[in-house]
Amino acid sequence: MENETQSVVIQRAVEAVREAVPGAQPTLGIVLGSGLGGLVDGIEIAGTVGYDRIPGFRTSTVEGHEGRLVIGTLQGVPVVAMQGRVHLYEGYPASEVVFPIRVMVRLGATRLIVTNAAGGVNPDFDEKEIMLISDHLNLTGTNPLLGPNDMALGPRFPDMTDPYDADLRQVAREVAESIELKLREGVYAGLLGPSYETPAEVRMLGRLGADAVGMSTVLEVIAARHMGASVLGLSCISNKGAGLAAGPLSHDEVKAAGAAVQEDFIALVSKIVARLG
Ligand code: HPA
Repeated sequence: MENETQSVVIQRAVEAVREAVPGAQPTLGIVLGSGLGGLVDGIEIAGTVGYDRIPGFRTSTVEGHEGRLVIGTLQGVPVVAMQGRVHLYEGYPASEVVFPIRVMVRLGATRLIVTNAAGGVNPDFDEKEIMLISDHLNLTGTNPLLGPNDMALGPRFPDMTDPYDADLRQVAREVAESIELKLREGVYAGLLGPSYETPAEVRMLGRLGADAVGMSTVLEVIAARHMGASVLGLSCISNKGAGLAAGPLSHDEVKAAGAAVQEDFIALVSKIVARLG
């Protein structure tokens, strides 16, 4: 294992997926965040593969996160969707957190839609709104590209000027307008977690330019950009950040908000995918 390059390990996972779902040729990858897994109901499923059956994949330890790849077509577009993801706070290194992203890109997904549940930092944002991610702050303190660079995956120092593709964002805005969905837009701050922020930290994040905060996504987007894939990011604002609303935060609240926006979210993503097809 030690002498193997990352791309060799990724290739083995790609082959395992192709063996489980023959003919899988997705062009679009979708990462479904907490409470947003219902999108798979709209997928005409060709096959699913549990993460435990894919070499190199880790399984999530978090309740509310399933762990399987769903392969099929959504609005006629060949897709691979991650139902469940693993997080840094579960103890996995950044390179393992992003491994499924690399496998989806190698399977053929040159475009990715990455979703998450997030706390609102911008005081104007209400719970159950959807935010288009315009940019991010990687405040996790780590990076999936640490260590020797595998040039077969991407460059040593990848550009991050356009982490969230401008054309894809424009498509998302147009689709939201066409279905009369209020779409917020802003900067996502990715933190390590798993404790939620303190009120002082939420105020700090606001001063740093963040509009929403969560515990995922930023590492995945770095890995995707490293490999040259373009990314659309959507956050479900599940709650106001700590200190911006009365009462404590809970994972149950996050899941309930995900369930409540699911319908809008599914409509938005399905129509975006249809436009991309
Ligand atoms: N903070 C961090 N992560 C989150 C939050 C939050 O308030 N809500 C959902 N995920």
